[in-house]
Amino acid sequence: MLRTKDDLRVQIQAYKVPALYVCSSIPLLTFSAFPGAMKVIALAAAWVAACAQLAHAEIVIDRMWSTTYDYSKVQELSNPQIKFVDGQALAASVNVTAAASVKSQQYDAIGIQVQENQLAQLVDTFGGGVTDSVAITLQDFKSKHPKDYDDLLHLLFSQDAEWHAKGGVGLNTAPKLWQTLHDIVAIHPGLKIISAPWSAPGWMKDGADETQPLFGGSLKVGMEEVYANYLVKAVSEIKAQEKLDIYALTLLNEPQIPELQYPTMKLSAAQAIQVGKLVRTALNKQGFEKVKLLTWDHNWDNTDYALQVLNADPTQWDGTAWHGYAGKPSSQKIVHDAYPDKETYFTEYTVISQYFSEPYKNMKNTARNLLIGSIRYYSRSVVLWNLVLRKDEDGFTTPHLPNVCQNCNAAVLLLPDSTDALAAADPSHTKTVAEAAGAAKKDKRRRRSLWRRADDTKPDTTTEELKPQTGSPAVAGGGEKAEAIQAKDVVDAKKTGTNSVYETALFKRSSDYSVLSHLSAAVRPTGASKEYSKRIGVSSTDEITELGGRLLAQAFRQDGVKPGVSRFSLILLNQNDHYETDVWENATAVIGFRGQIANVTTLPGLYTLSWEAPTVDTSAAAKAPLPAKADAPAADAKAAS
Ligand SMILES: *[C@@H]1O[C@H](CO)[C@@H](O)[C@H](O)[C@H]1NC(C)=O
Ligand SMILES: *[C@@H]1O[C@H](CO)[C@@H](O)[C@H](O)[C@H]1NC(C)=O
Ligand SMILES: *[C@@H]1O[C@H](CO)[C@@H](O)[C@H](O)[C@H]1NC(C)=O
Repeated sequence: MLRTKDDLRVQIQAYKVPALYVCSSIPLLTFSAFPGAMKVIALAAAWVAACAQLAHAEIVIDRMWSTTYDYSKVQELSNPQIKFVDGQALAASVNVTAAASVKSQQYDAIGIQVQENQLAQLVDTFGGGVTDSVAITLQDFKSKHPKDYDDLLHLLFSQDAEWHAKGGVGLNTAPKLWQTLHDIVAIHPGLKIISAPWSAPGWMKDGADETQPLFGGSLKVGMEEVYANYLVKAVSEIKAQEKLDIYALTLLNEPQIPELQYPTMKLSAAQAIQVGKLVRTALNKQGFEKVKLLTWDHNWDNTDYALQVLNADPTQWDGTAWHGYAGKPSSQKIVHDAYPDKETYFTEYTVISQYFSEPYKNMKNTARNLLIGSIRYYSRSVVLWNLVLRKDEDGFTTPHLPNVCQNCNAAVLLLPDSTDALAAADPSHTKTVAEAAGAAKKDKRRRRSLWRRADDTKPDTTTEELKPQTGSPAVAGGGEKAEAIQAKDVVDAKKTGTNSVYETALFKRSSDYSVLSHLSAAVRPTGASKEYSKRIGVSSTDEITELGGRLLAQAFRQDGVKPGVSRFSLILLNQNDHYETDVWENATAVIGFRGQIANVTTLPGLYTLSWEAPTVDTSAAAKAPLPAKADAPAADAKAAS
């Protein structure tokens, strides 16, 4: 609101004036001539606003979330007030000698160029796997600590700023599971549920484990229609009985998985083509046109399967889902480029929990591959595995089937005090690898119970029931090297430097939580906007090799945060560590935006910066095809002019 001449001056001075002498002087003169006239004030304000569109507004980085490599800052929110100023964008990284660095506080500088005109996919889906392991853990926690359970679900899923301020992450996706899902949906009715079966019932399979037909084998040739009906019935029964909408469905979790000691099945691409068509047709017929159908749902190391399926008939599919245990995120681009109108989702990744003691390493790898890599190659989502597990005294996570994923990470780790009923309630709870191996042989009771489930043809949670977690090659076998990590050593990714942040001795947030927090901070709706952010182009002068170099970036844009104003977010991964020698070097990002630069110096870690700027119409540019990897710096340097 402009009330006085001084206010007006201040307002005008707030804009850079190159073009704008004329622009700024006229309303001032007008104002002087008719002091106090409201009409003129309105006119002057409108003029200033119009001029602001023409001139460069001053652009200031006003939010920064910091997670340093040593977790001295875990998810600290600050307002660094770093202004974009005139200056040359870097065309190449600039190295500074160690001596010069100490002497003059200058650090290696890396050019990060933000290309707002390269508008790409919406990134609106992030969360964690809600398996039976997660649900068992959480329901046990609920019975023992109902208030803390409620708080934990609010931290994870509440969309309210109040919970964000307490360190909440505002997740909006979660694969499956009933009572827990009801509790989550009560907090966040817009939750997106992505459903993925792990196996058909044993009687639909060939070559499954003899004593445990949910383990291994393939969908019998000739069973395609039966399996398709089974999947569609699951969607309709979940709606009828649980009142839950499935957002997206994959035909099968990891259809090319090798034989493992938990529910798995193989489904050939030829079968997926048949089943997909039957499922799509039946879903549409039963009023589930909106349920998205995604193919593949397996690792980056195979693009042929998804291409074969889409080539057969792309109209049956909404897109492709990916896991990150093998291959490279750039595989997503191959399928995207063949079918640019189809969507890309990243649906599963976890690491083994040795990284409890190395949270930076875990955060760095996950952020690099997913926040930078997978999203660069068109993913709308980042879903980590699992959402919540119990962390035992011996450093393993539980519950799990014998010898499967004994020490997989989770975004939230319930500490021993939180769920002591669990060990007694869950026969698969094993404390050591040796015990787990013994249990695999001995646990007849469990085998029988699995067998019973396999015979049960009711299309509900049957095939999901005992899913412990992925046994992907990168994860399997890691368990034997797990180190005993004390609960106190598990880093809690909750501190933000304020006392208002939710604290408890019952659970801790892991580095996976940090990764999800940064994505949430970058893309969740803010201000007046109701929309998540879209990815925009960005490049780093240091990325000479794919995802290499000292600083990597991912950039986003959200329009409508105020009338005519967009908010830009930049996730910055500073991986300028010398991990083995324990040397941690600062690096300076020279961020180029609209022909100006802002220098931001950070220690190794993960950072999300954001700033507002007047919205520039990029509709013409948006129609042009977007390269997955940003072009050379300064491509849109004068976009705002
Ligand atoms: C700068 O340092 C990086 C990392 O140490 C190195 O890879 C790069 O070659 C150096 N660049 C120049 C121009 O010396
Ligand atoms: C930003 O850093 C670069 C590289 O060190 C330097 O040349 C430039 O002067 C700095 N600009 C500002 C505004 O600090
Ligand atoms: C890194 O840069 C920050 C400024 O952002 C500075 O305060 C700190 O001393 C630097 N640390 C090292 C190890 O150079």
